[in-house]
Formats: sequence, C-alpha cells, structure tokens
Amino acid sequence: MKGLILSGGKGTRLYPLTFTSAKQLIPVANKPVLFRVIEAIRDAGVDEIGIVVGDTANEIKQAVRRGNKWGVEITYIPQEAPLGLAHAVKISRDFLGDDRFVMFLGDNVIQGGISPLLRQFAASEWNSQIVLTEVNQPERYGVAELNDQGQIIRLIEKPKVPPSNLALVGIYMFDAHIFEAVNAIKPSWRGELEITDAIQWLVEKGYRVFPYIHRGWWIDTGEPGEMLEANSRVLEEITPTIEGYIDRDSEVDHRVTIEKGAEVINSVIRGPAIIGENTRIVNSYVGPFTAIGAECRVQDSEIERSIVLEHSLIESLPARIQDSLIGRHVVLQRSPIRPKALKLTLGDYSQAGLL
Ligand code: TTP
Repeated sequence: MKGLILSGGKGTRLYPLTFTSAKQLIPVANKPVLFRVIEAIRDAGVDEIGIVVGDTANEIKQAVRRGNKWGVEITYIPQEAPLGLAHAVKISRDFLGDDRFVMFLGDNVIQGGISPLLRQFAASEWNSQIVLTEVNQPERYGVAELNDQGQIIRLIEKPKVPPSNLALVGIYMFDAHIFEAVNAIKPSWRGELEITDAIQWLVEKGYRVFPYIHRGWWIDTGEPGEMLEANSRVLEEITPTIEGYIDRDSEVDHRVTIEKGAEVINSVIRGPAIIGENTRIVNSYVGPFTAIGAECRVQDSEIERSIVLEHSLIESLPARIQDSLIGRHVVLQRSPIRPKALKLTLGDYSQAGLL
C-alpha cells in the first residue's frame, strides 16, 4: 500500500495567509495540518508517500524534506496547475505503479487516524473504498447514495436535494483501476478533473466501491472558521505537557501545553491551549482553544479561541482578541503616539473585525 497526499491547490479561501504560505502548512495546535496527515498515514503502516505539489512546492519541500523525521520516504510529484483531484491521481501514476493506495487531502484533519479503514480496505478485494461521514448540511458537500447492500451507487456534488446525509471525506482508497477512470473522464464545468466523476465512472463500469462510515469528527480546513474549529478539536485531544517556565504569579490549568523555552509571567492561561517554543506570555490572559506559535510575545493583552503563527507580537491591546487567525511576523500593538486612531497595514484580502 502507498500513500498519496494532495498538497497543491491555491488556497484562495485562506487569503491573505496563503499568499505567503501553503495552506497545508498552517498549524493547528502548533503543528502543520500536512504533518498531521503524514503522521496519520505513517501510523496506519504506510511508509512510501507521494506528495502532489503546486506553486508552493519549495516551501513544502523545505518543511517536509525526505520524510526522515517520520521514518517515511517522500516522493514529490509536481502538478503544473490545480487541475483537479483526479488530475493529481493521473500524474501520480509512475509513483503509484500498480499498488493499492490511500489518497488523503493535505488540508483535512480527521479524528482517530486512518488505521481501521486502511485495514478494512487491505483485507478486501474492493476496487475502491471512500470515507463518508454524517453531516448536517449535505448540500454543501459531495454526497453518496447507497443501495440496500451498503454499496455506493451514486455520488453527487453539492446536491440541491441530497439523497442522504453522508458526505465524502477527503480520504479515498483505490486500486490501479482508478487510472482507467481518470483517463476516461472529462473536465467538469469548473475545468477540473473531478475525483467524484472518476469514482462514479468506477461504479458505472461495475467496479466494487464501498464506503467506510467515519464516526468521529472530520474537518476540511479550507476556510478560517474551519481552521479554528480544527484547532479547537485537536487541542481537546492532545496530552498536555509543561516544558517551559511558569512563574508563581501565573495561573495555568491542567489542559495547557507549554513548549520548550516558553515563559508565562503573571498571566492566566485556561486550556485547552498551547504556547509555542520560546514564546513569552506576560501580564496577559490566554483563553480556551488558543494556539500561540513559537517565538511570539503576548504582553498586556487578552486572547481566546485563536491561532497565532510564529514570530508575532501582541501588545497592550485595549480589547480581547477572539476567533482570530493571525499570521507570521504580525505586529498588533496599541500605538503609543497620537493621533489615537486605528493604524493598519493589512495585506490584500485581509479581514479585520474592529470594535
Ligand atoms: P481544495 O480545497 O479543493 O482547493 P484549493 O486548495 O485550491 O483551495 P481554494 O478552494 O480555497 O482555492 O483542495 C483540496 C486539497 O487538494 C488541498 O490540499 C489542495 C489539493 N489539491 C491539489 O493538490 N491539486 C488540485 O488540483 C486541487 C484542486 C487540490
């Protein structure tokens, strides 16, 4: 069995963060989503992994390298443009050969890993297995219709009248018949080779496509709100550790992780939360569901249910920051000089919710 991670794409819904950084490298609970995907595949016993990369190839290669850190072997597969998930499969033929494989979208986070589903597929003679989960608004997703035997009969993208509440999760398992499918289908109205069309093709040609119903949570981190949700969910599950320093005047509860070299001075931290390496929290409040990256400083401020990336500074703010996604090297400071006004330098597509 091999692994294929899709880590190209544009990430337009996460502008401006994705102008300067690959969306798969945005961390939840201080670890990039892509690293969590690699770990999920490795923990399921797969150590040959291909990563499809696009414009952000260099950054991804720099972060992941050859995979030694995880004990896996990484092969990079360049995609000239984000021409669709099925296109990504098509260009990965040389890497995949005739092996069965699991394909995982590099921006998805799933509870509990993928070992059970990989085991089920490995033990079966099915041509494909797709992961489904119950959702509240199926019309927002790719939805599956099953027959009485539980076999997939149809997949529909964002149906107006959904035939079920079972949405496709970004994890798929295939054997080499998928290459016949991706070579046979045509681009959709949005110009992409759609994986749902390729799976539908398999079904219509009589190949056996079965679902795996995932019972835990699953989050596609395409948008800022979903990033924050994934961050909250993962923070709830990690085992807290204190490796940094907490002074006597601070109050830090038992669901907080303080990474190496971090310092908490005269502050209150309520978990689940994580404070990154060498970050200083001084005279501040850090509330639940917050991840502060490495090398940051939060001083005389309050922050809750937010993600702050590395090397950022938050100082002397007059109001609490909440539900926010803050990039790298950001400076958020109360201006010491008059006039008393909001003075902003925001990148293209930034969003600021002011008081
Ligand atoms: P999407 O979220 O569908 O696309 P995107 O990353 O371009 O995001 P946006 O809609 O905000 O512009 O992609 C899902 C995952 O698959 C993501 O990790 C990027 C990856 N991908 C590829 O590697 N190649 C592709 O051709 C496409 C469409 C996506």
